[in-house]
Amino acid sequence: MFGKTKSKAWKQLEKVYGSFAKTQMKDLFHDDPKRAEKYSVAFDNMFLDYSKNRIDDKVMNALYALAEERHLQDKIKAMFSGQKINQTENRAVLHIALRNRANKPIYVDGHDVMPQINKVLEKMRDFSEAVRLGTFTGYTGKKLTNIVNIGIGGSDLGPYMVTQALKPYWQKDIKCYFISNIDGTSCAEVLNNIDPEKTLFIVASKTFTTIETLTNARTCRKWLVDALGEHAVSKHFIALSTNQTEVEKFGIDPDNMFEFWDFVGGRYSMWSAIGMIIAIAVGFKNFERMLEGAHAMDQHFLQAELPHNIPVILALIGLWYNNFYNIHRYAVVPYDQYLQYLPAYLQQLDMESNGKTITLDHKMVDYATGPALFGGAGTNVQHSFFQLLHQGSESVPVDFIIPAISHNEIGNHHQILISNVLAQGEALMKGKTEAEVVAELQKAGKSEAQIDALKKYKSFDGNRPSNTIVLKKLDPYSLGMLVAMYEHKVFVQGVLWNINSFDQFGVELGKQMALNILPEIQGTAFGVEHDSSTASLINYIKRIRK
Ligand code: F6P
Repeated sequence: MFGKTKSKAWKQLEKVYGSFAKTQMKDLFHDDPKRAEKYSVAFDNMFLDYSKNRIDDKVMNALYALAEERHLQDKIKAMFSGQKINQTENRAVLHIALRNRANKPIYVDGHDVMPQINKVLEKMRDFSEAVRLGTFTGYTGKKLTNIVNIGIGGSDLGPYMVTQALKPYWQKDIKCYFISNIDGTSCAEVLNNIDPEKTLFIVASKTFTTIETLTNARTCRKWLVDALGEHAVSKHFIALSTNQTEVEKFGIDPDNMFEFWDFVGGRYSMWSAIGMIIAIAVGFKNFERMLEGAHAMDQHFLQAELPHNIPVILALIGLWYNNFYNIHRYAVVPYDQYLQYLPAYLQQLDMESNGKTITLDHKMVDYATGPALFGGAGTNVQHSFFQLLHQGSESVPVDFIIPAISHNEIGNHHQILISNVLAQGEALMKGKTEAEVVAELQKAGKSEAQIDALKKYKSFDGNRPSNTIVLKKLDPYSLGMLVAMYEHKVFVQGVLWNINSFDQFGVELGKQMALNILPEIQGTAFGVEHDSSTASLINYIKRIRK
């Protein structure tokens, strides 16, 4: 049983917090010239500087003690060895098997999962190469150059984020499109711009029952059949799923289905057949490089001692803010335009995984769990939400991500970008005192009255935390490492909070209620009981749509 009142390590952390809370990072840097060296980790072609956090050795040791008390390392091993740690669904959690490049057997119910994974990877290789080479063509013999992924959540966000992140690796004649939202606009905006003869639809759905994906897929199927006839379907539709029965019911030949398994969670599935559009866009070799990068991070996570373990460090520091400073949000800001969709991807990863309140012992938690995550690409977001990061009433810890080398080293763009990301971390940490503001204004020749009027507005309290993650270059390998790093960070926090990070029952209720409301909107059901707000919204919208 676990609860903050029952945990020795938690109580120790409360004690440490009591004496540490007001410590200023500026002073810690001043007192220890080796602080940056001490609180940074280099691994492969990734570097993490976590020195701009409200931590010292006492804090970190107390956090490591919590990880030990929670038997973190045993739980990591349990995941890697195929134990059914997704206890509410009685499933193993094996996204790590999808990128197990060492090919070491991993057993679930006494059965090695690697041969089936390798078989699907081979099928993916053959198919993606055939599409890229034009040996698998559309019904009329034309090369398939418009690749449309139809999926939502984990069956969309990963493939979308990665294809955008790896744009420099795209085969020139291939264009990728994504249809996710049930909003007809999502379909219309794609279908209005493509030629059916050159289009491959990838229906990506783990369950193959998701209403958005199936509705979108049916609309696309009709559009294709109207243009090319029923016989064209087998040359223009493939399915990525765990559910062959539903795939067949939909009318997709099982030969055109690429399988994955229930031990792969939706938000952890971009490494599986769900990554098909990635493999087609950037080539299977690059897809494999991404798996290799993730595998390297997996091995680091499995083997590195806690104080050198990047996902563990990030998770512990996140917990420190969430549960002791009561900061329940954080921002991820990649300084790379290609990574602009990473925050959206991480929102599902983190918030669908750890947005839970019932512990593994069926109890209500007595501490905060998953934080809210937001973000966007720097420097753009400096001109939107950074004001709040610098002078808002609460701190927001930030993860900055920057590749040292850009794919587009044009003029001094990348140097300016690097200067900005480093300046933001420094500014958030140091702030600016009133005395510094006064001196600056005096130097600028401002009057006493002008200085008095401005000095408070222009000062920054600082002590605002950030991590800086430097990649050598944004390539398939480093992207694989980066995503796996966040997956494991989220896992560690789930372990520390004693929750199941691998189910998502929370998204069910709204889905069920939407199904109740649909017949009312369609005018086939009347007088269904609702609260007065929902009832009046239904009536108002129906009146307007008449
Ligand atoms: O949002 C709930 C969810 O089940 C996600 O976990 C999943 O990624 C998404 O829906 C899509 O599900 P499917 O791949 O089964 O269509």
